[in-house]
Amino acid sequence: MTDRHTSAFAAVEAAVAAESDGTRAMESTVQLLSQHLPDYTWAGIYLLYGNELCLGPFVGKPSPHTRIPLGRGICGAAAAEKATIIVDDVNADPRYLACSLDTRSEIVVPIMLDGEVLGELDIDSDRTAAFTSDDRELLERVATLLAPRIAEGRPTV
Ligand code: SME
Repeated sequence: MTDRHTSAFAAVEAAVAAESDGTRAMESTVQLLSQHLPDYTWAGIYLLYGNELCLGPFVGKPSPHTRIPLGRGICGAAAAEKATIIVDDVNADPRYLACSLDTRSEIVVPIMLDGEVLGELDIDSDRTAAFTSDDRELLERVATLLAPRIAEGRPTV
C-alpha cells in the first residue's frame, strides 16, 4: 500500500480499538478514511438487516439510497456475492444506483464475520478508476477490524 493508505489504516485501527461501541467505531472509520484519502468523495457503511442494506454512518452528501435490497445496485451485488466490487466507470455499469451526478467510480467491500455479511463499506469517487488494489487491501483490512465491533452491538433479528 502507499504511505497514505498505510497511515489511513493505522489511524482507523487505533480508532476502532479505542471507540466505546460499534456505532462510534463506524463513524470514526468513515471520517478517518475520507480525511486521509482525498479521492474518497463519499464514504459510508451499510448494515444488512434481513434482505435489506440500511445506510449507517457516512461522510459526504446525503444519499437517496438509504435502503437497498440485497442484489440491487453495486452495493446489493457485493453483499449477495460476498465479494469486493470495484467499478471504474459507474455510468457504464447497469447495476449502478446513482447517489451523486459527480460520482465516477465506486468500491464496495463486504464486512463479514464467520462467513456472514454484517454490512459493507461503500466508497465513491468523483474521479474515474480512482480505486486500485491498494484501496481494496486497505478497505478489506478495515472491514476485518470492524466486523467484531459491529457484531458486538447488533440486535438479534
Ligand atoms: N452506488 C450505490 C448506491 C449507494 S450510493 O453510492 C451511496 C449502488 O449502486 O449500489
